[in-house]
Amino acid sequence: IFIPTLYAMIGVNTLQEFVVARQADFAGATGDLSRLLTDIGTAAKMVNMHVNSAGLSGILGVHKAQGNTSKNVQGELQQKLDVYADETFTRVLKSCLKVGGIVSEEQPGIIHVDHSERGEGRGYGKYMVCIDPLDGSSNVDVNISVGTIFGIYRRKSPLIDPASTSDFLQPAGALVAAGYVLYGSSTMLVYSTGGGVNGFTFDPSIGEFFLSHPNMQFPEEERVYSVNDARISNTDPAISAFLSDCRDRGMTARYTGALVADFHRNLIQGGIYLYPGSFDQPEGKLRMLYEAQPLAFLAKQAGGATCCHHHDLLDITPTSLHQRTPLFTGHASSIARLRSMMRASAHPIPEPAGV
Ligand code: AHG
Ligand code: MN
Ligand code: MN
Repeated sequence: IFIPTLYAMIGVNTLQEFVVARQADFAGATGDLSRLLTDIGTAAKMVNMHVNSAGLSGILGVHKAQGNTSKNVQGELQQKLDVYADETFTRVLKSCLKVGGIVSEEQPGIIHVDHSERGEGRGYGKYMVCIDPLDGSSNVDVNISVGTIFGIYRRKSPLIDPASTSDFLQPAGALVAAGYVLYGSSTMLVYSTGGGVNGFTFDPSIGEFFLSHPNMQFPEEERVYSVNDARISNTDPAISAFLSDCRDRGMTARYTGALVADFHRNLIQGGIYLYPGSFDQPEGKLRMLYEAQPLAFLAKQAGGATCCHHHDLLDITPTSLHQRTPLFTGHASSIARLRSMMRASAHPIPEPAGV
């Protein structure tokens, strides 16, 4: 069978060309965001190379610092690739003149970027980047998909001082851009700057991302629900009732343990992802800034919806950098049905602190 190269099939529309062409849609755009988005594409290519060859290059398994297994600020074990992806994205983002600060799931606080210190520009950049450098990292050792998630806010405070925490604590509705990279059977970068969602597939023979999924929208049909069912015994019983209703509607279950992979499949096939809070831990597991907000922004742009137990997630202003949140995201009618069932629940999960 003859398999034409990807770029020959779809025409040459690289990530860089597309980003620059889209810039023209925004009056007064300077190209700064375009530069930042293409830099994220560059970091993704570097991480992709190591994810693809991790078994050969000895970077599988848990990261050790001074002989001890290392944990991130949230007490989670760090894999070697977590650390590599974090270092790569932060190094590339720090070199981008438009970035003023970075917060990462793997780092305790804000990484300030002062370009004047290196004589490379004037002071701090205007964009604040929130990143989950490697999502689903426990999947790496078993060769299942992993991802990167990012969100970009415009800084609110003046550019003369280091960014403050409140520059990052903005609702998802204020995101300037958000996206993810999925290192899967092929590697894709999917992003939105607010005018719809577009997906790009990496062609390793050329080293470029090409537009392969223009204007991504959740399909009409609801096909999939994604949940770790070990997490639903101690949560709102309305969620079990919702899942039973999903089965009655002929929906099927799929869960990889990597949020990016589950979200992406549900976006393509039509589905809903659920990670509830529990009575013991009402805030759930997933991170507001690095995981929930960027995906909520993308879901909205793709015609979907996102909520935590009691609110539309787009409306929530976070109160701390590493805040966790329950997350329900995907197909808009599935989310609407779930929300109405949770509203009528006899045993709702209490509101997590900070919401
Ligand atoms: P991370 O690897 O960035 O810490 O994220 C893991 C997250 C998410 O990707 C996934 O959906 C979820 O954790 C899986 O959690 P459970 O193992 O509790 O299902
Ligand atoms: Mn993650
Ligand atoms: Mn991660």
